Amino acid sequence: MSSNKEAWGSRVGLVLAMAGNAVGLGNFLRFPVQAIQNGGGSFIIPYLVCFLLMGIPLLFVEWSMGRFGGNYGHHSTPFILGSMSKFGFWKYIGVFGIFTNLAVAAYYCYLESWTLGYIWHSVSGTFSGQTRDDVANFFTGYTSLSNAQPIIFWLICLVLNTWILSRGLSGGVEKVAKVGMPLLIVFGIFLAIRGITLTEGSAGALYSGTTGLNYLWTPNFDTIWEPKVWLAAAGQIFFTLSVGMGSIQCYASYLKSRDDVALNAMSAGWMNEFVEVVLGGAIVIPITVGYFGIDGMLELVNKAGGLGLGFRTLPFLFQQWGPFLAVAASVMWFGLLFFAGITSSLAMGTPCMGFLQDEFGWKRNNAAFAFGAAVFILGLPTVLFFNYGVFDEYDYWAGTVSLVVFAFFEIILFAWIFGMNKGWEEITRGADIKVPIIFRYIIQYVTPVILGWVFFSSIPAIWETISNKGLYEQLATVTDAVQKAELEKTMLYRNLSRLLLLAVWAGIAFMVYIAYRKRVREGRFLL
Ligand code: ALA
Repeated sequence: MSSNKEAWGSRVGLVLAMAGNAVGLGNFLRFPVQAIQNGGGSFIIPYLVCFLLMGIPLLFVEWSMGRFGGNYGHHSTPFILGSMSKFGFWKYIGVFGIFTNLAVAAYYCYLESWTLGYIWHSVSGTFSGQTRDDVANFFTGYTSLSNAQPIIFWLICLVLNTWILSRGLSGGVEKVAKVGMPLLIVFGIFLAIRGITLTEGSAGALYSGTTGLNYLWTPNFDTIWEPKVWLAAAGQIFFTLSVGMGSIQCYASYLKSRDDVALNAMSAGWMNEFVEVVLGGAIVIPITVGYFGIDGMLELVNKAGGLGLGFRTLPFLFQQWGPFLAVAASVMWFGLLFFAGITSSLAMGTPCMGFLQDEFGWKRNNAAFAFGAAVFILGLPTVLFFNYGVFDEYDYWAGTVSLVVFAFFEIILFAWIFGMNKGWEEITRGADIKVPIIFRYIIQYVTPVILGWVFFSSIPAIWETISNKGLYEQLATVTDAVQKAELEKTMLYRNLSRLLLLAVWAGIAFMVYIAYRKRVREGRFLL
């Protein structure tokens, strides 16, 4: 019997929690780097098209699926999807909606904990007077195993997530969102204004901040037809909106049957886009370009990726703004990352908890503890073998591939099996806005086709990853025995982490099977 008596306290709380679910580290760290790596102005057009043709339709679909399943007492995707068709197969597709949350949380909470560590170091003046190399080396040292401090911050972060989750939706998640989201926006606006008002020659800047802004916003049609750019744009839309994850369905499952989903979905979705495109686009890029120019920024991204700009470069650049602003900007930057991170990781906890509460009658505290413990165990390899690419491996399989696979199947289920007549009725029932009818056709035809294209055209790249093509190519060119041994170790850890993720997926599927048998024994049917 379900022990799940959760409910949202207020509409504002729900929308802020949903926006908090979407607004995450992806908005501030992943978005600028995806934009930079895919040609700046060439990225924005595919990105906006993907938002309109995949992001918005999937938001409507996931919110209404969640409310539909929730009205039958289901709060996680295996049984939400299971209640939309009589074929048992769908509940196993729903396994992705628990798996992804768990596996993303496993590496995401580690990243989230760095922001706590960096707030601590910003306040205690660690970066003051350091050179560019010192700050970059600090990051390398921070993530090396010889340093116990990140593990302590990681544990604090896990305890914090578990404790908030144990307080429930209205008593925990909603309260954090109500404080965290406004603060994040205020910090973001401050840093964005500072970024775009940097002028050539002020605070040691070599270029104006608007040079970076122009790089991002000047339409560039050179690479716009490259599939790689479209795939990157689609991947970013999925990650940033948290669609294809299972957390939106879970949050929405606590709505009542006539509660609005259309306006709520749009409010949370557009708030995410404001934070990502307006704020996320106006901090990292303008500030970095201000000091290193466009070529310098491209070189930095190629060398150190997205985390590099956020953790290795910005703390050094803030030091150029004078002692007071250096600390304030650094605390605001890592503070906004922390709030962005925690409001997303809390959302990742709720589907796992909903499943345990609904299917096995677990109490909320125990379910929250189980989530915390699972994230600890699954996250341990990303912490211990961070430098061997385990973190990236989780991000690839759980944070990229899994989202597209799940979204592809769920839109087929919604539009073609549940049926678009019923689907449209679900989207529009209780709606506080008139949903443009065009979305009915986009959901039925356009989104599945584009998603199918994204899914199938990614298969060769997925296969290259599975076969470790890149690593074998590197191995073939390396002659140094130590480097060779390191690459072989990387390959081993990457392969093992894939097996671990597969085992987690299979373990969840097995639990879904047990839960289903239990339902049959108890005469509790899906509808
Ligand atoms: N949507 C969350 C993010 O952008 C996962 O980080």
